Amino acid sequence: MTGDWDDLTARIRACVLCKDLVASRNTVVPGEPGMFTRRLAVVGEAPGAQEDAAGRPFVGLSGQLLDQLLADAGLARHETAVLSAIKCRPPGNRTPRAAEVDNCRPWLAAQLDLLNPRLIVALGLTAATWFLGPRTTLAGVRGVVHEVDGRSVVATYHPSAAIRFGPNGKPLAALRDDLALAARLLG
Ligand code: URA
Repeated sequence: MTGDWDDLTARIRACVLCKDLVASRNTVVPGEPGMFTRRLAVVGEAPGAQEDAAGRPFVGLSGQLLDQLLADAGLARHETAVLSAIKCRPPGNRTPRAAEVDNCRPWLAAQLDLLNPRLIVALGLTAATWFLGPRTTLAGVRGVVHEVDGRSVVATYHPSAAIRFGPNGKPLAALRDDLALAARLLG
């Protein structure tokens, strides 16, 4: 698996399909397979500024919250694959365009084929839409397991929404509940 992962990662790093993003980003952030002990993959949206600088996913504020919430649910980050819908930072952290998500789709699909996770947690609307289709709303799909092309998917809020809405906001409570659901499903 490691050789295949490294090979796939090298191909992702060499991708130049999104010309604007290739021109503006500093690094490609392919994602990390982790130890993958419980075969959980989390899928975010796109690298932010810190991720773009470090070349690693979820290392900024959202990542710190994600690590904490995973740990609170009994799901350690180092056991989890951490991926995203697109691998290059959109300028100013704008939402990825549909064409960018489409261009990057085969990379995430190949990562998921290789890892074959037991459960995927999609973080935020871009990732939720990736799995569940264009009419998705997070309020409408969260809190349950979806079976998509033979994969089990729990879609929930992105940690950045939990930060934005604060400690008493709905996204944080939902994220906690949905990660607890994921932990129960993984046993
Ligand atoms: N948000 C994401 O979706 N992914 C990251 O790596 C960082 C922030």
